[in-house]
Amino acid sequence: MSRPGGLELRLTGVAKSFEEGRIAALRGLDLVIAAGEFVAVTGPSGCGKSTLLNLIGGLDAPESGTIEAGGSPLAGRDLTEYRSREVGFVFQLHNLIPVLTAAENVQVPMLGIGGPPAAERRGRAMRLLAEVELSERAEARPPQLSGGERQRVAVARALANDPRLLLADEPTGSLDQETGRRVLDLLVRLHAERGATLVLVTHEEHLAARAPRRIALLDGRLAPPPG
Ligand SMILES: Nc1ncnc2c1ncn2[C@@H]1O[C@H](COP(=O)(O)OP(=O)(O)OP(=O)(O)O)[C@@H](O)[C@H]1O
Ligand SMILES: [Mg+2]
Repeated sequence: MSRPGGLELRLTGVAKSFEEGRIAALRGLDLVIAAGEFVAVTGPSGCGKSTLLNLIGGLDAPESGTIEAGGSPLAGRDLTEYRSREVGFVFQLHNLIPVLTAAENVQVPMLGIGGPPAAERRGRAMRLLAEVELSERAEARPPQLSGGERQRVAVARALANDPRLLLADEPTGSLDQETGRRVLDLLVRLHAERGATLVLVTHEEHLAARAPRRIALLDGRLAPPPG
């Protein structure tokens, strides 16, 4: 399978506020994340971590500043297409669709105009479920799965379109430590095998410590390095 490699991200003076400017979530962020890099983003609650992930994932647009992904600015691009072609998201609360089976949930990002035909979708979903060791549970629905199993389905779904950028916002936050470690092992392995850029938001020190590079945010800015 051809791998286009990870996406480079370049943020220049990125600012975002909410509630008519009363809440400054990001205050002029300059940041470069190299193609294929694995970066952990840490910082206290409310410092802007999810806002940052939403902006680089094309779920929201900055108020000022520019975000370039793979060398071209997100402003003016079709963000729906960017999200579905380039980005895989894993959130803390998996938001799987409860009435669909695991295999059907994994296929959701593949649906739509220009997507693969049903048989190919199903085959890809089954291969992705095998990667997260859930082949036996392919026909189970989310309410029948454990928290860790659901989160692994969410990881498989994030990989559905072979993204060049994996964004994980507290992906292990609802899991016990051992299960959380296994979900992170999986993300790290997939990042390494696929060469995708991985940006992981986490509160947990032992998980952040696994990333070769860490970015700490404080009140919407990069925190000064420790020491
Ligand atoms: N849609 C929104 N509307 C209004 N305020 C928002 C919105 N999203 C985020 N905020 C505010 O922006 C600030 C940054 O929020 P953000 O979600 O990025 O924090 P975070 O670092 O992810 O926190 P946590 O660790 O608790 O998830 C917070 O003060 C938050 O209340
Ligand atoms: Mg958050």
